[in-house]
Amino acid sequence: MFTSGFKYSAYAAGISVGAAIGLTLNGNERIYSSVIMPAVQCLDGERAHRIAVFSAKYNMMRFSSKPDTSTLHQTILGMKFENPVGIAAGFDKHAEAVEGLFSMGFGFVEIGSVTPEPQAGNEKPRVFRLIPDKAIINRYGFNSEGHSAVEDRLKGLPILDGPLGVNLGKNKTSTDAANDYVLGVRNLGRYANYLVINVSSPNTPGLRSLQGRQQLHDLLSKVVAERDELTKSIGRKVPVLVKIAPDLTDKDKEDIAAVVLELKIAGLIVSNTTLSRPESLQGSAKSEAGGLSGEPLKRMSTRLIHDMYKLTKGSVLIIGAGGVSSGQDAYEKLAAGASLIQIYSCLAYIGPPAVSKINRELTSILREKGYWNVQDVVGSAHIAQKKT
Ligand SMILES: Cc1cc2nc3c(=O)[nH]c(=O)nc-3n(C[C@H](O)[C@H](O)[C@H](O)COP(=O)(O)O)c2cc1C
Repeated sequence: MFTSGFKYSAYAAGISVGAAIGLTLNGNERIYSSVIMPAVQCLDGERAHRIAVFSAKYNMMRFSSKPDTSTLHQTILGMKFENPVGIAAGFDKHAEAVEGLFSMGFGFVEIGSVTPEPQAGNEKPRVFRLIPDKAIINRYGFNSEGHSAVEDRLKGLPILDGPLGVNLGKNKTSTDAANDYVLGVRNLGRYANYLVINVSSPNTPGLRSLQGRQQLHDLLSKVVAERDELTKSIGRKVPVLVKIAPDLTDKDKEDIAAVVLELKIAGLIVSNTTLSRPESLQGSAKSEAGGLSGEPLKRMSTRLIHDMYKLTKGSVLIIGAGGVSSGQDAYEKLAAGASLIQIYSCLAYIGPPAVSKINRELTSILREKGYWNVQDVVGSAHIAQKKT
């Protein structure tokens, strides 16, 4: 009785939040920060996530303030990005809200991680907000509707407003990891502008060990071979990126860079969530198992972007993720070597206005510093470092 009463009120709260979001179509940032986000934060983390996906799916989070694209647009690997802010993997795991996410103002959308077969993921609760730390700990464990359900949704999409990334994972019980990723390329690659091999989620046993030199080489060789087959059948080469963890040793980083360069991998996504727990954490959920994201991950991921840019000599695309919630955060990741950035956790704190806020702040920083285009900032911290 209590449970169903609770469920009912949580849904009612969810629907009111959705409606409130719908009523603020033109993106009043203050309504979000003073009314909507505090209400959403009263809900359990996973329920709030479902409501956010639902709201995006039904276009309730549409924003009118489009960024100044002349400063922010880029063409990378043949893909046109109106602005450098993308939605990171894990928000729209099953490709339910792709069009709505573009309407929110994102310059690109990454769906997934998707596993070949449907799987439920870990037991609930599995998402925790650390409100004083502006952070999240999650241990979803790749809950996925599987390739077939996601393929049906991707098939039905119209021409989109920007590039679509498809992030691939492996099933928990699969004994042949490489085959799971190869199946991802085969089944979903044709719908993607870029593909991501996610070997860095901390919630699937053994996954992160795929980042080791030999294992990564074997895995990526098979993925690239399958991608080359795909190129023959669709007449278009889909770039492959690898998403890496922030908890790597110097040797791990060198090994990953060597494999990426040898196999001519198009890029890296830096980074996934961290298993570390900085001492500064205040949130009561800080000891929950899982990957930590948001503000406490920011410096760690920016440092890793810097290292990977240096090790790959600026020759591969880097998409920076980890604790970005302002134009300044985005700028620092670009200067470290990222060409694009992704956000996730800050949506739980700022809500959908985060996208236009970051783009607006970034545009003013670029103007202030005399940059004509966002591309000119990429890797600039390395040049500045050399000069000093
Ligand atoms: C709840 C949650 C679920 C996530 N699920 C995935 C996932 O399925 N695949 C993936 O590659 N990354 C996943 N991530 C990691 C994000 O894509 C991103 O790399 C990370 O959260 C750092 O960005 P942020 O600090 O802006 O959140 C997830 C993150 C969160 C918070």
